[in-house]
Amino acid sequence: MVPVRPFFYSGKPSSLACGEVALEALANKYRTPLYVYSADHISYRLGLFTQAFAEQKHLVCYAVKANSALAILRLLDRHGAGFDIVSGGELERILAVNKAATARVVFSGVGKTAPEIDLALRSGILLFNAESEGELDLLAERAAKLRKRARIALRVNPDVFAETHPYISTGLREHKFGIDIHRARAVYRSVAKSKWIEPAGVSVHIGSQIRTADPFGAAVGRVATLINQLQKDGLPIQFLDAGGGLGIEYHLDLPFHPEEKILQYAAALKKAVSGLKDIQLLLEPGRFLVAQAGALLARVLYLKKNGKKHFIILDAAMNDLIRPALYQAHHEIIPVTPRKGARNLIADIVGPVCETGDFFARDRAIASVQPGDLVAVLDAGAYGQSLASNYNSRPRPAEVLVEGKRARLIRRRETIDDMLAAEIP
Ligand code: LLP
Repeated sequence: MVPVRPFFYSGKPSSLACGEVALEALANKYRTPLYVYSADHISYRLGLFTQAFAEQKHLVCYAVKANSALAILRLLDRHGAGFDIVSGGELERILAVNKAATARVVFSGVGKTAPEIDLALRSGILLFNAESEGELDLLAERAAKLRKRARIALRVNPDVFAETHPYISTGLREHKFGIDIHRARAVYRSVAKSKWIEPAGVSVHIGSQIRTADPFGAAVGRVATLINQLQKDGLPIQFLDAGGGLGIEYHLDLPFHPEEKILQYAAALKKAVSGLKDIQLLLEPGRFLVAQAGALLARVLYLKKNGKKHFIILDAAMNDLIRPALYQAHHEIIPVTPRKGARNLIADIVGPVCETGDFFARDRAIASVQPGDLVAVLDAGAYGQSLASNYNSRPRPAEVLVEGKRARLIRRRETIDDMLAAEIP
């Protein structure tokens, strides 16, 4: 079985490596903060999806927002994956990687603009996941203008509760996402009258970092019932887009078996769609494919004590990885080259940004480190760099992709000139 993460201690003194590449060497060469990803690990996770759904007609459409690095998109494109996008910017990324891949693109999001819709129509994407009647009106208007028929799926809101952080739960009636599933049939009926809109699918996405299969089964089951009705109504529904959201385990000391998780997830979905005919399942995983493939490397700048409290101040901050600050998310933090005989210390591990919320961990036990030591923040491959900002005028980190024995810079560190380039003093 392939380990949950591609980072291991090896050599003497023992030091963390990604595959065969030493992280100390990468940090010396490219400096810190630095994101490091394993290409092999991403390919392996994609393979788990493909195998689990082998006998079901399906397409994995990677959720680009999780990590939109061109090199990662290119890797997934080479494996034949499709893409779930939520903006014109993400579509431009796909176009930059492979124009032909647009035939495997689904376009989600509650606020598509006319220019974004036009770009998607001209690029010939597979499917628009429409989220409101207003959007359908605009889509029909733009499609007529460009004389390009738009294939659509309505994103329905199934009113299913998914146990996750409230900021990333989306499948309840009170959320802004989708159209009430009970109204969907009427909306489809009126849409079917439009010459420029082809009702081709139904989509659903109930949230992110969901750790059990049941809510997915429940949501997709409700969608399957709707598809049955729509097909009886004579609509040419061929796609069921089940969204993304399959979670991972961020704690090192809790068991996690991605191979079992994906099988449970696939079983729940396959059971829910078993009564449907001629349906292609679309899947939009983000986190499950890339989170554990990545780590954020940072150096310890200072150690300090305020009263009884210890602080470890890193050169990475909430602008580089905002998940702990925004979702109280847990990320394991481990020394890259552990010191011999080092005792555990309970400390807050923080960044240099001027906010109390700028922390990676609070009251965390960590083997003692010294200024200059390198640490790795694990499971940072998803929603890390893609949510990074220039807050406090900090340039965003560089990124490295490890492929077998080779490490390749896939994004250089942002410079001060990059940061100031768009401004008019
Ligand atoms: N499809 C749609 C329509 C989505 O909105 C999302 C994520 C996905 C697929 C992919 O979900 P995943 O498989 O990655 O769970 N920044 C947050 C997560 C936000 C998720 C937003 N939508 C975090 O760091 O936890």
